[in-house]
Amino acid sequence: EIPALKEVFEDYFDMGAAVELNHLNGPHQEILDKHFNSIVAENVMKPETIQPTEGNFNWAQADAMFDYAEEKGKLVRFHTLVWHSQTPDWFFMDAVGDPMVVDGEILKPENLEENKALLLERMETHVRSVVERYKGRVDSWDVVNEVIDPNELDGFRKSEYYLITGTDFIHRAFEIVAEMDPDSKLFYNDYNSHQPAKRDFIYDMVVDMLNNGIRVDGIGHQTHINLEYPSIQYIRESIVKFADLGLDNQITELDIDIYTNDTEAFGSADEIPEEMLTLQAIRYQELFTVFRELGDHISNVTFWGIADDHSWLHNRPIPRRNAPFVFDEQLQAKESFWSIINLEHTP
Ligand code: G3I
Repeated sequence: EIPALKEVFEDYFDMGAAVELNHLNGPHQEILDKHFNSIVAENVMKPETIQPTEGNFNWAQADAMFDYAEEKGKLVRFHTLVWHSQTPDWFFMDAVGDPMVVDGEILKPENLEENKALLLERMETHVRSVVERYKGRVDSWDVVNEVIDPNELDGFRKSEYYLITGTDFIHRAFEIVAEMDPDSKLFYNDYNSHQPAKRDFIYDMVVDMLNNGIRVDGIGHQTHINLEYPSIQYIRESIVKFADLGLDNQITELDIDIYTNDTEAFGSADEIPEEMLTLQAIRYQELFTVFRELGDHISNVTFWGIADDHSWLHNRPIPRRNAPFVFDEQLQAKESFWSIINLEHTP
């Protein structure tokens, strides 16, 4: 009988995993039940699933996850209310059905005010509908996801949302959730949040919101990393920087890609060299050492999946077998599992 992760780390942070509906029964559910006390939907709580066409809400899949979590006494992270991706095109169509933005350019500048009002209204309706349904049942909301792009001069991703509304969509979303679900925690979530330039843009955005009386409770660091990048020092510095601002931190989408380039590819788990998995175990151990040290400033650590049989990384950036988690494709504990709990691997 192996130790349960959620018990090993209970004095530090909650332990979570991203799930699809088919993980809520069978062997995946056994791993979830034993090791994790928090879940997040990998896909089914995104705008395209919840409101595929305007006004038609599809709650069945999200409901099933909430039901599971409540039956098992697990926390729910809600991912995600507002995002430029996995949001249906109709959000960004004008009153006559033309796209508001084409190839990064505003199509009808003369209608900007009208389109801005329309887009904000749709966003508000979506956010209000979701929060109305699930308020009181969500531990942490990913209110806004991935709006920072360090390659842009002002630091903001040039999404339809940003081109049409500026930062209003971000501010409104946080205000609505703060007002409707005051006891939950409100997160801004992003990847590469450890990279200094991006980290600082996120920091400036959040400081600006706080100065304007907009509540933000924490930063979700997705933490999709690989065997080499980023340095553990970057990860530590980013968490400390936000903690010094009085914010909570969560590790929201953790995985460690075994590849460090876009071309190498193993076709099956058996072909992955043992040395790579050992390097991964060392990397996981360094990471969890920092998470433990900063445990007062980190409330949740969530893997972006349960075990190596299912991961978005099997398809990105090319089809290849990856092994990003601490349980293998047979759902057995890997060297990485033992390393994060600081135990020698005992086969
Ligand atoms: O639902 C369709 C299905 O009907 C169809 O048959 C199938 C064929 O490809 O596609 C299915 O949709 C896929 C969807 O996942 C649900 O499985 C999409 O193609 C696929 O692109 C989509 O990928 C998800 C990705 O977000 C989309 O941006 C990944 O599963 C999910 O892990 C990933 O998660 C994101 C976080 O939300 C935000 N941070 C980064 C992270 C990794 O990219």
